[in-house]
Amino acid sequence: MIEIKNVTKIYPLGKKKALDNVSFEIPEGIFGLIGRNGAGKTTIMRIIATVMDQTGGSIYFDGKELKANRAEFRKSLGYLPQSTKLMPRLNIVEFLDYVCIMKGIKDKKVRKAKIADAIETVGLVGEERKRLGNYSGGMLRRAGIAQAIIDEPRVLIIDEPTTGLDPEERLYFLNLLSKISVGRTIIFSTHITADIENLCRNICILEQGQVKYVGDKGEFIDSIKGKLWEHSGTPEDEAMLRRDAIVTSVAYVDGVAKVRYVADGQLTDSIAVEPTLEDAYIHALGGVKR
Ligand SMILES: Nc1ncnc2c1ncn2[C@@H]1O[C@H](COP(=O)(O)OP(=O)(O)OP(=O)(O)O)[C@@H](O)[C@H]1O
Ligand SMILES: [Mg+2]
Repeated sequence: MIEIKNVTKIYPLGKKKALDNVSFEIPEGIFGLIGRNGAGKTTIMRIIATVMDQTGGSIYFDGKELKANRAEFRKSLGYLPQSTKLMPRLNIVEFLDYVCIMKGIKDKKVRKAKIADAIETVGLVGEERKRLGNYSGGMLRRAGIAQAIIDEPRVLIIDEPTTGLDPEERLYFLNLLSKISVGRTIIFSTHITADIENLCRNICILEQGQVKYVGDKGEFIDSIKGKLWEHSGTPEDEAMLRRDAIVTSVAYVDGVAKVRYVADGQLTDSIAVEPTLEDAYIHALGGVKR
């Protein structure tokens, strides 16, 4: 269990607080950190990963303060940063061997077994001879996971791993995370709610450095249950609904505006619809932008 208490971050050159008194708890399982660009996702992840210090507040891992027990915590931690440039001239075996050595695994046989295991887990068997520089985006992401799990960490921190993946690779990757989540904590950040719709039980929504919601995903979605409507109409209808309700999505199909909106009762001829995580998320952020 990881506890984040009143964490604030001000970057030396930053004008505003990147994190502003953020508090939440991360239980075992996959934990989804959602927020749009600049919300503070990478900032909090780097602090939990001990690669950067917070300006104020504390983080506890199983009740122990993180900063004071860094070396110990690092042993239980795997981190996949948002932009990873793995060593392009190495192949996956050479790269993972290097990672193992950096982690202090001295026994060559142990390293070999761990490497084979990790390559198998992430589905890169048969790709061992290719240089990482020739890997596709999806393969690189898998190699990144292999390096993060090689020493069987209890906590995995993965920053926006699905960005830029094609649909097939994305699904493969989400399944992989689900597979390796057993008995671990995985902190997963994204701005695509569909990524975590079926993956996480607990979520935290960050917005401009502050926690907008933290807790059970189902409860969050249920907060707009019975209040979500869909109306098909004209651009004028869309303008009216934007004015009088919180609009969670607008899609034009053959010139007809399909508007989903949150209101206590329907405002115009509409049908009641089941909310998705996306609807609840956009609602929490105050509705879709123009
Ligand atoms: N090194 C830095 N120096 C100054 N400001 C920074 C630095 N890194 C991030 N920031 C600012 O801190 C805020 C939070 O940034 P952060 O990268 O944590 O957001 P994010 O949620 O990860 O966004 P994205 O989805 O784009 O990755 C932003 O306003 C950003 O501009
Ligand atoms: Mg980021």
